[in-house]
Order: sequence, then C-alpha cells, then structure tokens
Amino acid sequence: MKNKLLELLKKYDGYISGEDIGTQLGVSRTAVWKYIKALRNDGYNIEAVTNKGYRLMPSDDVLSSMEVKIGLHTKLIGKDVLFFDTVDSTNNKLRLLALEGTEEGTVVIADEQSGGKGRRGHIWSSPKGTGLWMSVLLKPDITPQEASRITLVAGLSVCQGINALLGINSGIKWPNDIIIEGKKVCGILTEMNAQIDNVEFVVVGIGVNVNTEFFSDELKDVAVSLRQVTCGKVKRSEVAAAIIERLEENYNKYTQEGFLAVKADYEKNCITLKREVKVIAKDSFNGRAIAINNDGELIVEKENGEQVTVFSGEVSVRGV
Ligand code: BTN
Repeated sequence: MKNKLLELLKKYDGYISGEDIGTQLGVSRTAVWKYIKALRNDGYNIEAVTNKGYRLMPSDDVLSSMEVKIGLHTKLIGKDVLFFDTVDSTNNKLRLLALEGTEEGTVVIADEQSGGKGRRGHIWSSPKGTGLWMSVLLKPDITPQEASRITLVAGLSVCQGINALLGINSGIKWPNDIIIEGKKVCGILTEMNAQIDNVEFVVVGIGVNVNTEFFSDELKDVAVSLRQVTCGKVKRSEVAAAIIERLEENYNKYTQEGFLAVKADYEKNCITLKREVKVIAKDSFNGRAIAINNDGELIVEKENGEQVTVFSGEVSVRGV
C-alpha cells in the first residue's frame, strides 16, 4: 500500500487530498496518514497543507526497493529488489537467501554495511547513505573456471551504466575495478557456491562510491565518488537501475553466446589495454597489456617478448 501511495503521489504534479487518495486506494483517511508517515520515515519529503492535501517534494537521494524498481525495465535481474537499512554484507545476506532457494535475479541493497567485504580479505568501507552497496544473484549454467567472466560482465555493466546515466568517462581496470581519472569509484566482489564441475549460484557484489564527499586519509588518494566527479548529488536508486539494466543485457548476451558477445564492448572500456602493467603474483613481473583473449584473460607481453596469460589476480596499471 505504501508503494501504491508513493506511485500516486509521484503521478500528481500538485496537491492531492487525503480523501482522494483514500478513494483511489480504497483505504480510510487515517490509513492514508499512516502511510504518509511511513514514507516520510523512509526519507521522502511530503508536504501537507490544510484544505489542499499532500504533495511529494523533490527528495535528494532516497534509496528503497520501490525507487530502484521505478527505473527498471528488466525481466530477470531486479524482479525482486530487497532493501535493508543495515546488513553486515549484502553478499552474505544474499548468499543466505540463495541457500534458502531464492530466485535468480534477486537483488539485495543496503543503506549501510557493517562488515562490507572487499577482495582478498580487505574491508570495504560502506558508510550509511553514501554509496550503493548491492548484490545480485545469478545462476548461470557454467563451470567454476568460467565464473570469473561473470565478474567481467558485471564490471562492463557498471562502467556502461554510470557512463550513460551521468555522461562521464569511467573505465575498467582489468578485471573489474571501475576507475575515473585514475581513482577507484567501484569495486566488485564475486562469490560462488559450486561443485567441482558446476556452479550452483554466483553472488555479484557491487560497491559504488556515490555521494561520498570526503574519504579517509587512507583512501583519499585512491578512491573517488560519482558526486566528486559530477560536482552534484547523485541518486543511488538511479545508479542501481542503470547498472541492473546493463547487467541484464550483458548477462543475457554472455549466457546465450559466450564472452565473445561482450568482448568488444569490454575492450572498448578497458583502460588496462595498451598500458604498462605490473602483474602482482608469487613471481611479480612488469610488461605491457596487449590483449584480452576470448576467455576474458589478460595477455601481458614481458620486456623479453614472452607473452603471459593472466587468469586472475592483481594487475596494477602505471599511473592508476
Ligand atoms: C573490491 O575489493 O574491490 C570489491 C569490493 C566489493 C564491495 C561490494 S559492496 C556490496 C557487496 N557486499 C560486500 O560485502 N562487498 C560487495
């Protein structure tokens, strides 16, 4: 009912009386008031004027399941969007739901993560109200070895989604960090449940710095937010919808035709290619990133001309 009321308020440019709302939604005026209060609690700015009624005022950045779904036209991803004020990690939350049999395409979003997880056991700083902390449940018919390609598909989708939404020029640092002007705006943590030869499900965790104004001393040289780049507040729900739309498109291409179907778009947006890189592994080495192969792996040419295929791991790009 709260969602129906919100839809109604969004439809009206001016005021709508409590009585009209009650008639249209088939509830009493007391119930209308109760839902108005609930929406205000969610962060919506609703003006109430005697003899005129209610009016929805522009809200800054309300993040809710409803707000995300309004901008979505997808069939699979985002059919269910579950929103939480606080969770330890959206990846953990969605993994538990997946173990209970939750459907493919379910999205979990939180306003805050108390234990946000980054790659390689790092902490992912996820303060309240500033970022998009989102996980998506996928059940592709692939082997565990192929799962890293889902990560590339997700990285591409974030990059295309935010570039189209905000007219910016982010790029992908292979495999899936999203970079703007040399700093990281988004990180992706993909986790899976798998048998030896097949994947049961994949949880793709996407963390975007959206409205962060100031980063800690530790992060300020390496992290950036969309707000800092666009010099204005950005709606997290719109960022979520833009990413989900692209993810559905790219994921469908990938599951139907393989990585080759998205490879050209990935390469176009990949800032690692044609750059001097350092592959950080047991035996770290320097080289030049010369290509992405058909499996999404990075081909690096060493100074002696030897070509090495990098499957996963940390690759730093000079200047980034
Ligand atoms: C990285 O280290 O670059 C990956 C960061 C991934 C952060 C996101 S935020 C949503 C999801 N939940 C988590 O705990 N982590 C991912």
